[in-house]
Amino acid sequence: MTKQAKYKVLAGQFIGAIEAGEYQNGQSLPSLRQLSALNQVSMTTAMACYRHLESLGFITADPKRGFFVSLEYNPAGDIKHAQFTAKVSPLPATPPSRLRSGLATAQLDPALIDTQTLRASLARTMRSNQLLFNYGDPLGEISLRQALSNHMKTQGFTLNAQDLIITQGCLDAVKTALELTTKEGDVVAVPSPCYSGLLDILSVMGRYVMEIPSNLDGIDLVQLERAMAGQQIAACLLSANFQNPTGHCLSIQQKQALADMARRYQTPVIEDDVYRELSHDSMPPLPVKHFDKDGWILWCSSISKTLAPGFRLGWCAPGRFYDRYSDLVRVRSLGCNRPLQLALADYIGRGHYTRYLKKLNRTLALQCNQYIQTLTSLLGASIQLNRPKGGLVLWLELPDVDTRQLQAQLKNEHIYILCGDAFSTTDLYQSYVRLNFGQCLSAEVESQLIRFAQVIEHPLCQKPGEKYAKTGTKPA
Ligand SMILES: Cc1ncc(COP(=O)(O)O)c(C=O)c1O
Repeated sequence: MTKQAKYKVLAGQFIGAIEAGEYQNGQSLPSLRQLSALNQVSMTTAMACYRHLESLGFITADPKRGFFVSLEYNPAGDIKHAQFTAKVSPLPATPPSRLRSGLATAQLDPALIDTQTLRASLARTMRSNQLLFNYGDPLGEISLRQALSNHMKTQGFTLNAQDLIITQGCLDAVKTALELTTKEGDVVAVPSPCYSGLLDILSVMGRYVMEIPSNLDGIDLVQLERAMAGQQIAACLLSANFQNPTGHCLSIQQKQALADMARRYQTPVIEDDVYRELSHDSMPPLPVKHFDKDGWILWCSSISKTLAPGFRLGWCAPGRFYDRYSDLVRVRSLGCNRPLQLALADYIGRGHYTRYLKKLNRTLALQCNQYIQTLTSLLGASIQLNRPKGGLVLWLELPDVDTRQLQAQLKNEHIYILCGDAFSTTDLYQSYVRLNFGQCLSAEVESQLIRFAQVIEHPLCQKPGEKYAKTGTKPA
């Protein structure tokens, strides 16, 4: 008989006690340090035990307060989505050029970035001529891969340095994954709505999309499974954590089910996980990759949303596709910028990244609330939104508003937003808008939000026959 891992044995004891009614819902559990001392296990085992319990839905983690018994854990939230039957759609041959600025781009305010410490890591790296003026490992500096692996281990997510390949940002990682797993004319399943940048990649690569609707519990796994089982799709591309634009997180059970489906139907799932570490008030959630047993999940991420998009550094853990993925990366570019990789390894290795993320997420939680308060006080009942538990964007529904007109009118005033059309091949999201809340709510941003609210009321931005039909006022 195989011996069970220590963390599972320990978790089993908790489960027994919880099921026997020895713990109440919401009751706090020993800290990691206490758990480790009480049971004479390492901190890593203690963390793995709590992560395992969390993955089974028995506990929740709060970074400030600790671990709690939770018998009703539901991170999926209650985002509402349009319901429809998934079908295959083509994409435009040339994707439209997108606005990259202010409220339109999911990006941190430079004031929130830990520039001083990051600069110090860069300066340390630049002292070594030997490192700077030679080719490095085309798959990525091992010091960076190791630093990333150690960093993720502290979150209960175990991935070896050798499983990771460094890329030029997340989209580069995703593109290589798509090249490997699909060919021109193939259909790729995506959640609806889907981040415009992913639709743009699929478009330039000549792939078709099958938008899978989401329901209250997240992406409709029944429809996704049907597409996998019917061999209608060559791959699936999605974000399971703080999805852009909805902010939506799949539950642990859904992640497990998805990993299992990928294995059963042998369908590659490309997981774009750039927002995972922007978890405002709890530990970063686990990726689908955590539940991947046979390597069907190609896990892609980067530091673009959390730290510095200008570094253009990301990574992929391509699972069973590792050899083919590394061949492609090796011949394509001979690796990524070396000094930046080494600086990032230094920054993460010294513990700055973990400390910085903690502070950043507290700030983002506040900032998210400030934006919601400002918007609701300006627009009252005429908007609908859910508060995301992580990430950088708000997904607003503006019933009766022609958001394309709104976008065009605001652009004349150099105020940039992204309207819902960008996130779908359907017209289901025409009354939605995505706003970045990564910028600090300065007087300038506040005045942009005030203009946003005023321009919404402009007759040109109101869909004829809706609000005006109700009020009896004719649009000018
Ligand atoms: C879901 C998602 N993936 C990837 C990216 C881009 O990542 P990177 O800059 O690392 O290529 C974005 C940027 O908005 C995004 O929202």
